[in-house]
Order: sequence, then structure tokens, then C-alpha cells
Amino acid sequence: MSDLQKRIEGAIASPKNLGEMADADSVGTMGSADCGDMLRMWVKFKEDASGRKVIDRATFQTFGCQTAIAVASVATELVAGKTVEEALEMSGEDLSAPLGPLPPMKIHCAQLVEGALRSALMPQKDGEETASVELNATTSAVGGQAGVVPGLIDQFRADSSGGEKKVRLILKKPIQG
Ligand code: FES
Repeated sequence: MSDLQKRIEGAIASPKNLGEMADADSVGTMGSADCGDMLRMWVKFKEDASGRKVIDRATFQTFGCQTAIAVASVATELVAGKTVEEALEMSGEDLSAPLGPLPPMKIHCAQLVEGALRSALMPQKDGEETASVELNATTSAVGGQAGVVPGLIDQFRADSSGGEKKVRLILKKPIQG
């Protein structure tokens, strides 16, 4: 087993920040054109001691591979305490750095995490109006795979029925499992 595989398996054995966040300030969803997987990230902000608006915490759920789960796990830890601008400067490579370099065929897995994070953060950065979407996906982790969100893929398809692959969502109410 390679060192990378060991680090990935270590991360997914006890993924950090897995699950929906009922009191999130923003939600971002990204689908990968490369593999069809998707990842949703919730972000909560706070004011730090200097009065800066920073990420308090971030959580995720995904229809993704082990690498996506591992990257999301380490990425949600890395972005805590960062401003929106600082987090947006982080590439997929930055967000997956604790796992070590990813092989070319797995780089899109980290980009999926980067995309979901950007989707969640951009409304905060741009101050733009974001369409609110009622979320009704069933979110309990079942099926034997951590991070899997039954119903999320259907929600995503509905979201992207307009032909757009990337969607932005603002949590209207806590999701009940
Ligand atoms: Fe799809 Fe990794 S293969 S996210």
C-alpha cells in the first residue's frame, strides 16, 4: 500500500466534519464532469478576535470516491479560521496538501472539494444574490459508505435541470435525516 493510500485510508477511517450543518450560513454543491461524483459543503462564519469575518467551521457530504472524502476531511480542517478571501486562494492542491501529492487521475477529486468550497464562499465574497432552494434530500449516512447522501444526487439533477452543472444553494432550513 502506498503512503498516499495509507493517508487516504487514515482520513476516511475517521473523517472530520462529515455531515450537514443545520445552522450553516452558506452551502455549495459541485459535480465533477470527470466522474459524475458530487460534493456538498456547508460553511459557518464567525468574527475573530480582530473583527475579521472568518470561517468558523465547514462540513461536507459527498457522492464521491475515497480520495474526495479524504480531501474534504482535511480541507474542512484547513479552512477553519480563514477569511473568505484566504480560503478562495486555496487550490485543490492546497486543500489536499496534508495527504501529499495526488496522482493525475485523482486531481479532479480535490478539484471537486475546491469547487464545492468556492460555491459556498462566492456569494459571501461577491455579495451577490443567490437563489434559495428548499433542500429535501435525505441526509442520513446509509448504505455502508461514509459520506454518501441518499437523495442528494437526485436533488443535484433537479438543481442542474437548467443545463448548468454547478449550482449554489443557501440552506433554508435544517435538513432532517
Ligand atoms: Fe470522482 Fe474521485 S473519482 S471524486
